[in-house]
Amino acid sequence: MNAVDIINKKRRGEALSKDEIEYMVMGFTDGVIPDYQMSALLMAICLNGMTKEETVQLTGIMRDSGDTVDLSDIKGIKVDKHSTGGVGDKTTLIVAPIAAACGVPIAKMSGRGLGFTGGTVDKMESIPGFVTSMERDQFIRSVNEKGIAVIGQTGHIAPADKKMYALRDVTGTTESIALITSSIMSKKLAAGADAIVLDVKCGAGAFMKTYEDARELAEWMVDIGKGSGKSMTAVISNMEQPLGNAVGNALEVGEAMDVLKGGGPEDIRNLSLRLAAEMILLGGCAADRDDAEKKALEALESGKALEKFRVFVANQGGDERITEDMNLLPQAAFAVEVRADEAGFVTGLDAMKIGLASQHAGAGRQKKEDEIDMAAGILLDKKTGDEVAAGDLLCTVFGNNKAKAEAGAEEARAAYTIGTDRTEKPELIKEIID
Ligand code: URA
Repeated sequence: MNAVDIINKKRRGEALSKDEIEYMVMGFTDGVIPDYQMSALLMAICLNGMTKEETVQLTGIMRDSGDTVDLSDIKGIKVDKHSTGGVGDKTTLIVAPIAAACGVPIAKMSGRGLGFTGGTVDKMESIPGFVTSMERDQFIRSVNEKGIAVIGQTGHIAPADKKMYALRDVTGTTESIALITSSIMSKKLAAGADAIVLDVKCGAGAFMKTYEDARELAEWMVDIGKGSGKSMTAVISNMEQPLGNAVGNALEVGEAMDVLKGGGPEDIRNLSLRLAAEMILLGGCAADRDDAEKKALEALESGKALEKFRVFVANQGGDERITEDMNLLPQAAFAVEVRADEAGFVTGLDAMKIGLASQHAGAGRQKKEDEIDMAAGILLDKKTGDEVAAGDLLCTVFGNNKAKAEAGAEEARAAYTIGTDRTEKPELIKEIID
């Protein structure tokens, strides 16, 4: 076997055998296949696709490239949740404590931000003192005793994905159904949960721009999970505009607190309740979907979910007082307002542009080694469908570096489209596939 023949085969649009996929993936992971050959193969996969059978093989090879986590010492049905990546998506911070408060054991591994999308681990680390790494025994004990633990992914889980993702990020090979399916499912299958709820995003701020592509991605991931004996549900949700009003690490933790206290923007609250209900259902903690919805709402409105969040933060070394006093979260030195030049309606708010503006204000990394400004980000005052008068505040960009915050503000302005026609607020939850 040789790499050039395999690349040529995929360039011609032919299906690869399991041995050929393994040769490339494991060769690349072990450092034998160079970046340029793997990049060529990834681009050929992006352009010509993979069959479902090839994707199943690729997922299994990536899963087996590292350790698989044994969660059998945790009592109950372990339910994981994964989002395909979005802007302002702080649902894990809300959903995990709601589901845990309803009795679902949450043993979750989360990722960091990637490109214009945020990551749960970075958000949690904006809480002073919060630690996202733990030894296995402590992780298991935390879930058994407190009902919830969220840690960063270790380098031993699906190392093939870790290397391939880093390459995809810089070679324009992210947006492929086969590559996203195998990347997400290899990690989720290795992470050991019994059931998985997927939040598949579609729209400008998602890797899948169209509903059709998001649906196909959701179906493939559900099929592959079920094929590996997992209970699966996928929720397809809109990511045309950011989720909620806060984008950026500490700002998003603040908004998650608002939701856990019974307030917060309607879109993030509704999606969080939907995802939590799906987790409660798969976790066997409700009789049916209606019952799961009721339980999720009760956990939120009674304050039990907020209390679970407080216990979770304290258990991982974080300052639990942030649940009472959000001023204890990192605060930015500079705030740059963006105001409307003209009156009208917000007819569009591009999630990807807002994600990039927030990243450039300091909330995300542009290079792997970049330090994040935890206080940086954007608070949106107006979103799609809102009416604006000339001079109204559209959003505020925060950061500790003035020049970066100002650059972010210019980008945020360009994310808004203001027109004369009244526009409907976009439908948030498009479909549930189970
Ligand atoms: N999230 C992942 O983990 N992998 C992808 O390819 C896309 C989103």
